[in-house]
Amino acid sequence: MSFDHFYYKGMRFLKDVHSEESLSHAENEFEVFDDDIYNVTFPKSGTNWMIEILNLIKHKGDITKSDVLSMQMRSPWYEIFRFHEYIFKMDSPRIISSHLPHHIFAKSYFKSKAKIIYTIRNPRDVIVSMFHFTKIVNLFTPPENFQSFMEDFIQGKTLYGSWFDHVKGWMQMKDDKRFFLITYEELIQDLRGSVVRLCKFLGQELDDAQIDSVVEHSTFKSMKENPMSNWSQSDIVDHSKGTFLRKGISGDWKNHFTVAQSEYFDKIYQEKMKDLNMSFFWEQSS
Ligand code: A3P
Repeated sequence: MSFDHFYYKGMRFLKDVHSEESLSHAENEFEVFDDDIYNVTFPKSGTNWMIEILNLIKHKGDITKSDVLSMQMRSPWYEIFRFHEYIFKMDSPRIISSHLPHHIFAKSYFKSKAKIIYTIRNPRDVIVSMFHFTKIVNLFTPPENFQSFMEDFIQGKTLYGSWFDHVKGWMQMKDDKRFFLITYEELIQDLRGSVVRLCKFLGQELDDAQIDSVVEHSTFKSMKENPMSNWSQSDIVDHSKGTFLRKGISGDWKNHFTVAQSEYFDKIYQEKMKDLNMSFFWEQSS
């Protein structure tokens, strides 16, 4: 996979989207407010799904208030320079997205009371989702083949560095009261239960009908049909090649990995994650 990039702290970043200054600003100068809510993910782990859910929760399930803006304007990525001024003017509580790893996240966050929701997904499905994503977004030269893409992913040469380092970095916060860990697979398995838990974490009291409405509008089908959520208006997506909301399932990796690739990835996974004393959902089922 190739894209026009530069390095910041040893990680590749997209030239058209970031700059050295914007990342340094995000890390060192960005001001976090105590009532901010951060939607943090490694790319292709359910970032946009969480944007939909969090904004619906903020507006108590009322889609006419929640979905008046595109995904990017509802929860802009604070490390992207062109959003800086806009973020400054957003209404509280601001719901802000980020793919940054823990070690370069806004320094002011760590002195604040702001909350983070970290959504993590089976890396095998992240690889598959990102592989397709690079084919429909015009910022990338599509990968030669799946094997070479997987290798780039393992080596941290795809977007936002290494998935393994991202997860291990953020897991340092797993016992922090400001940090909520959720998996994409939990969202798939029990969306309503996940919304209820998120409301509790955020201190938001929604009645049953309001929770039902959050769930109804954040299903894959609803989001795919919703022009404010499906990226159909985005000019970075070549809509003739595919859709941003692609399959929305867990386990699609089984349709892409050969047996040899699966065994190879398992070995790498075990090696890289061995010092993290945590077991994720997919380790039992993959
Ligand atoms: P697939 O490519 O596997 O379909 P991100 O928002 O971090 O870029 O993640 C994109 C992935 O989340 C895509 O996965 C997309 O289809 C999936 N997704 C987005 N909204 C979803 C929803 N409501 N339900 C299930 N999956 C969703």
